[in-house]
Amino acid sequence: MALMSLGSFTESFFSEKQEQLLKTYPGLSIRRLKDEIESFALQKHVDADELFEHQYIPSGENPLTHFFNSLNRGYPLEYIRGRAYFYKSEFHVSPSVLIPRSETEILVETATILLNDWLKKTDESLRVLDIGTGSGAIIISLLQEIDRPLSSYATDISKEALKIARRNFFNLRFTIPRESSLDLICTDRMKDLREEKFHLIVSNPPYIKEDEDRKFVHNQVDTFEPHLALYLKDGEYYDWFEELFQDVSNSLYEEGVFIMEGHEDHLEDLRIQCEKFNFKTVSLIKDYTQRDRFLIAKK
Ligand SMILES: C[S@@+](CC[C@H](N)C(=O)[O-])C[C@H]1O[C@@H](n2cnc3c(N)ncnc32)[C@H](O)[C@@H]1O
Repeated sequence: MALMSLGSFTESFFSEKQEQLLKTYPGLSIRRLKDEIESFALQKHVDADELFEHQYIPSGENPLTHFFNSLNRGYPLEYIRGRAYFYKSEFHVSPSVLIPRSETEILVETATILLNDWLKKTDESLRVLDIGTGSGAIIISLLQEIDRPLSSYATDISKEALKIARRNFFNLRFTIPRESSLDLICTDRMKDLREEKFHLIVSNPPYIKEDEDRKFVHNQVDTFEPHLALYLKDGEYYDWFEELFQDVSNSLYEEGVFIMEGHEDHLEDLRIQCEKFNFKTVSLIKDYTQRDRFLIAKK
């Protein structure tokens, strides 16, 4: 292989593989690819000055080779970078956690309005729980949004995910009121918190049926994101939510609220199921494309 500069290599890599790259990374341009390479290089302590002028020697030891190989495999850019933007911050992510999605920001916005309304009526510190916290993007964004201190709790069944959430809380601590707290708990849904009471419970649980829905999941998501974060077994789906709704209902204070993200094809069935658990109202909220994507249940 003739030696060439990193700039020339990047340009020929992009033009050769453009069609394949655009399928996996919609909107990727040569400019953006170079920006990604530059920030990746900085992260790996590769000298970024005149980066693209230097000769590029592909080898197993060269971190940039790892970068190009990852793109060839269709690996999500967020995992390559180790960072993803959500709401108003940048969160650390790894393949142990779902890459937070922009539609989940609707859940944060809705929860923020509710909490602020509640805070107008009381001086007490509100208690909030996030079930299946992953990177911690939802609960940390809520902690950032609310000026008054919150006592918050977040669960996940994955210990690796909780390590990422802990790291994000540590990194973003300075953006959160000092008296607010976050306890991270490894448990199934909220099993170890059944004795506790909350004003608000939020959740973006796994909600894709492993068999019925899988064919609609983007190949990149199915291949690289944690299945624990995505799928539930078809036969266990409604039992899983039944137990969740029961625990949530028992743990909410009077007038407490539960907000959950879900699958557009199954949320109406879940709404009917949730109504059995002593809520005053259970309704659905749409996303920006007018699809039912969130369930909101009020005690
Ligand atoms: C769809 S992801 C959501 C992650 C994050 N809250 C977000 O919105 O980006 C679901 C999360 O639930 C966790 N999870 C899966 N099964 C669980 C269970 N039985 N109990 C608690 N957490 C669970 C997964 O590990 C994953 O982090």
